[in-house]
Amino acid sequence: MLARVSRLGLHALRRATAPGQNPLASRRQQAEAVTSHLNHFGKTFFCSNTNATSNARSSEISVTFIDKDGEEKLVKVPIGMSMLEAAHENDIELEGACEGSLACSTCHVIVTDVDYYNKLEDPVDEENDMLDLAFGLTETSRLGCQVIASPELDGMRLALPSATRNFAVDGYVAKSH
Ligand code: FES
Repeated sequence: MLARVSRLGLHALRRATAPGQNPLASRRQQAEAVTSHLNHFGKTFFCSNTNATSNARSSEISVTFIDKDGEEKLVKVPIGMSMLEAAHENDIELEGACEGSLACSTCHVIVTDVDYYNKLEDPVDEENDMLDLAFGLTETSRLGCQVIASPELDGMRLALPSATRNFAVDGYVAKSH
């Protein structure tokens, strides 16, 4: 790429110093011509590169919620939004009684794939305390208000507890809310 930039700069320089140019203005013209060409090249190259990057890193991820009846709903969640907020925005029945202040366990969700669970930030002590009170606690349980959308969570599936008997630990049967 640098070789190409150099060639473009040289080309611009030659055009700026072609016969018939005013010698007094030539230095300034040379600089402007080179800058103009390099700017154009830079915009073309780097903008297309940036577009490719932004396409690869979407501002939303796909998350599937599985309700208590086993029905699945695929939703788009903006990066930075909690799963509790995403559920509420998409009419998914995830209570969230304390509105994300870590004072309840009604936003309990179960990450169905341990690989995704392992990508999450570790829960803070307050979250663990609340999870201990949750119905149907499993090895991959989290509080939905503490799970924040990030690019690596694209494709994650979250089950709501009352539909998660298959995930219950040691035969524990989750109770309906
Ligand atoms: Fe209460 Fe998440 S909404 S802890």
